[in-house]
Amino acid sequence: MKSKLINAIGRNLRKPEATLLGRFVKKNFEKKNGFIELEAVRLCDIQPNHQVLEVGFGPGIGVQAAYNIVKGGEGTIHGVDFSEEMVRIATKRLEKGISDGKVKLIHGDVSSMPFLQSNTFNRIFHCNCYYFWPDMSKAMNELHRVMKPGGVMVTAMNYERVKHIQAEGFFAKVGDPTLDRYLSALDSCGFIEVETKKFKHEKTGDNLVAILAKKSEI
Ligand SMILES: C[S@@+](CC[C@H](N)C(=O)[O-])C[C@H]1O[C@@H](n2cnc3c(N)ncnc32)[C@H](O)[C@@H]1O
Repeated sequence: MKSKLINAIGRNLRKPEATLLGRFVKKNFEKKNGFIELEAVRLCDIQPNHQVLEVGFGPGIGVQAAYNIVKGGEGTIHGVDFSEEMVRIATKRLEKGISDGKVKLIHGDVSSMPFLQSNTFNRIFHCNCYYFWPDMSKAMNELHRVMKPGGVMVTAMNYERVKHIQAEGFFAKVGDPTLDRYLSALDSCGFIEVETKKFKHEKTGDNLVAILAKKSEI
């Protein structure tokens, strides 16, 4: 019984469903991850003219923060998430940005993103998402492909908490958050100037880890 519940929660952490459990997980993302999304946006140093992509946007808190930066400029925010339920929820949150043409939320998978054109985004960010990418090289090559030369990608997380969630068995059937898996894919897929920042969040006191990586100018 307990392992069934753990597996069901794990399944919803990976891909939230339109169920009571999915709604509970979504509320948890807002409460426990919202401020991490804001840190990722801060570290991206988004400018009003930037083309920005978030992968695995969940309830849309990071997209909302990024939209607030570009709404007065020429920039746009794209979001890709493979949970229909998260696309539905975030679409409600981003109603204004979508209707004024600055935000586009797409149901899709990081491993084969719905962007025919390469070299598009100045900034890419994702939070609590790479854990669920079974083919890390495929996902990373896609991220590298759609990023503009000189673009920056940021991920941020509370790694202590993520490791705790892993130890409780929630990732057993759905993913692997091991940091080295992410770092070695960055390297093998051509990202450069990889920087790991460790810092305490000013308000919550949580120890956060952020990883920044760049696509070469040439
Ligand atoms: C744990 S949630 C994190 C949501 C939000 N970023 C946060 O930190 O609260 C993971 C999100 O990534 C999405 N996701 C997982 N794997 C994905 C993939 N392969 N392609 C696109 N989205 C994915 C899920 O649907 C979900 O919305």
